[in-house]
Amino acid sequence: MENNIKPCLAVKVGSMEMRNPVMTASGTFGYGWEFSDFMPLETLGAFIVKGTTLAPREGNPYPRMAETPSGMLNAVGLQNKGVDYFVNNIYNMVKGYGSNLVVNVSGSQPEDYAEVARRLAPLDGVKAIEVNISCPNVKQGGMAFGTTCAGAEAVTKAVRQAWPRTLIVKLSPNVTDITEIARAAEGAGADAVSLINTLMGMAVDVERRRPMLSTVTGGLSGPAVRPVAVRMVWQTAKAVKIPVIGLGGIASGRDAIEFMLAGARAIEVGTANFINPAVCVEIVDWISDWCVRHGVKDINEIVGEI
Ligand SMILES: Cc1cc2nc3c(=O)[nH]c(=O)nc-3n(C[C@H](O)[C@H](O)[C@H](O)COP(=O)(O)O)c2cc1C
Repeated sequence: MENNIKPCLAVKVGSMEMRNPVMTASGTFGYGWEFSDFMPLETLGAFIVKGTTLAPREGNPYPRMAETPSGMLNAVGLQNKGVDYFVNNIYNMVKGYGSNLVVNVSGSQPEDYAEVARRLAPLDGVKAIEVNISCPNVKQGGMAFGTTCAGAEAVTKAVRQAWPRTLIVKLSPNVTDITEIARAAEGAGADAVSLINTLMGMAVDVERRRPMLSTVTGGLSGPAVRPVAVRMVWQTAKAVKIPVIGLGGIASGRDAIEFMLAGARAIEVGTANFINPAVCVEIVDWISDWCVRHGVKDINEIVGEI
């Protein structure tokens, strides 16, 4: 392939067309505007905003973050001002960034999730919702739904009835067999699954003789979780027909390609945004260069090559 021919990086998830496979992970990219000084948001395939719930949530008490080897633990606990605040105060500011806007949705009952989806449905600029059935940091943060097939199915079905556009269901790694849960979500009408959310972890301050987090346990993210995530993406991509979105520890273009070879149609970048707020642009450029080096004309060719 001649070096001056740009590879096609466009991918499709449900009805959402993205100029490249790079998305930002919920809870690590605010509402996008916090990052707009560091990069043009239109270079992203999509950006996923904070977890949004029906009622406002204050989140968990501090301390709720701790650094761990090659990763971090968090127990933020879905702090947000609720869906009505998003609809009335945030949507107009973030809909014009020139990239696909995706809202991450959480709840403690299937009906809560569906109601959030219903209130977002009239906003044409929200191209997809990502349903979080996998938050380990709040008592009823959805992880209960993400750890049984019946729970995953109930939430997906309820949201499917309320939401007309692309529906992504975000899966928990805190299960024995993630492929069963993925199949349940697919059967109930999901257009795609994304994985992984954080792995449950814990760290102790041995001088204070206290847990590092107020909640004792929290969610582990960052490069430490990447091999677990790649394995789960590989297994899931073989088990479902819908697109798989891969995430967990992606910090470079190399990592992104690793997930795509393992079966991810698109990828999300989370914790790495905290270290380098322009990392997503660098990842897009690296993927493009990699395609040129490997003679890949269309990124879709390599999805699930392994
Ligand atoms: C501080 C923080 C807040 C998060 N909040 C959410 C959230 O609101 N909804 C959600 O689905 N995932 C949330 N996550 C999980 C991430 O989106 C992602 O699934 C996880 O961190 C693994 O990816 P990473 O290793 O690239 O960070 C959060 C993660 C962190 C570190």
